[in-house]
Amino acid sequence: MKFLVINGVNLARTGKREKGVYGEESLEKINAELAAFAAAHGHEADFFQSDVEGELCARLGQAEGRYDGVVLNAGAYTHYSIALRDAIAGISVPVVEVHMSNVFAREAFRRTSVLTEVCRGEVLGFGKNSYKLALESFWL
Ligand code: DQA
Repeated sequence: MKFLVINGVNLARTGKREKGVYGEESLEKINAELAAFAAAHGHEADFFQSDVEGELCARLGQAEGRYDGVVLNAGAYTHYSIALRDAIAGISVPVVEVHMSNVFAREAFRRTSVLTEVCRGEVLGFGKNSYKLALESFWL
């Protein structure tokens, strides 16, 4: 199977920002590990990051017919982007929502996701392993 891992706003700074929350590893390193994890299970993964909401929506649209699944950490857009929600609802590719941190143990505004309802499922709170668990959900 072929998967697309999408990271949204501010996630390019993983490993540099709020290390106590998101860890010390860079997104490049996390993605390299994920690519190896997918390959070890006979699958393939592509990666995309953008801070721009519209670019994330466009990339989701382009996933149609190209991928078997999408793993999406939309960052703060999770909490209010109706555009991203509509982009997910508008494709038949299943999307799994991911958060590295336990958003329910943080500020109240992080407890709302406008995306979960249109996603296949959600994985949160396991640091970089949230991405692995989300990927794995497609072949378990
Ligand atoms: C995040 C949680 C969001 O609330 C936050 O805005 C992020 C990262 C996470 O991975 O835990 O940027 O999606």
